[in-house]
Amino acid sequence: MFKKYEIYQIHTVITMNKIKDIIVFRYGHRIVRDYRVSSHCSLVSRALGASKIIVCGEEDKSMKESVDDITERWGGPFEVIFTDNWKKELKKIKKENYKLIHLTMYGEQINDIENEIKNEEKICIIIGSQKVEREVYELCDYNVSVTSQPHSEIAALAIILDRLQDGKEIKKEFSNAKTKILPQKNGKKVIHLK
Ligand SMILES: C[S@@+](CC[C@H](N)C(=O)[O-])C[C@H]1O[C@@H](n2cnc3c(N)ncnc32)[C@H](O)[C@@H]1O
Repeated sequence: MFKKYEIYQIHTVITMNKIKDIIVFRYGHRIVRDYRVSSHCSLVSRALGASKIIVCGEEDKSMKESVDDITERWGGPFEVIFTDNWKKELKKIKKENYKLIHLTMYGEQINDIENEIKNEEKICIIIGSQKVEREVYELCDYNVSVTSQPHSEIAALAIILDRLQDGKEIKKEFSNAKTKILPQKNGKKVIHLK
């Protein structure tokens, strides 16, 4: 019979986290209509540890400027880039050895697949806005659901980012920040670094 600490050690080996880089791919963006949700997807990606968001759709300079402004003040690295061809871009990302993880309510449940995904080194999380074409499901390495209920790409993205980084992204230190918050039990404390 295993002693308690031996079981703990086995568990630690099985769930070792190898992820080194996470990028996000937003499938579909229309100026005005998607401004708010795509901006929030970008802000969540940045704050929760992704290094880049690639937005496929109309090039929205205003959205990029507002996210770049946050990165300039609160630190990075974080990039927002646009593409108009999802297939070409996803194939390119795949060639760069990223595993493609498509978030969809129809996919395998996150609880059942997260440990397997943690064995990958580079991952690209794909979130939809409009209806996602069948080919995306087929091109991706994993189709993953965060509950098997319809909800929001912002919420699904936040949850998978947290799960795949074991909560460590909450304490991430950002480079070249001009502004930083010192967490307080009560009140607000902000320091200006530059
Ligand atoms: C708000 S949904 C809209 C889907 C669109 N109306 C359609 O018919 O396909 C947008 C995106 O949120 C994400 N999403 C929504 N519910 C999800 C769930 N339960 N698990 C994972 N992702 C989910 C998916 O990436 C989806 O493409």
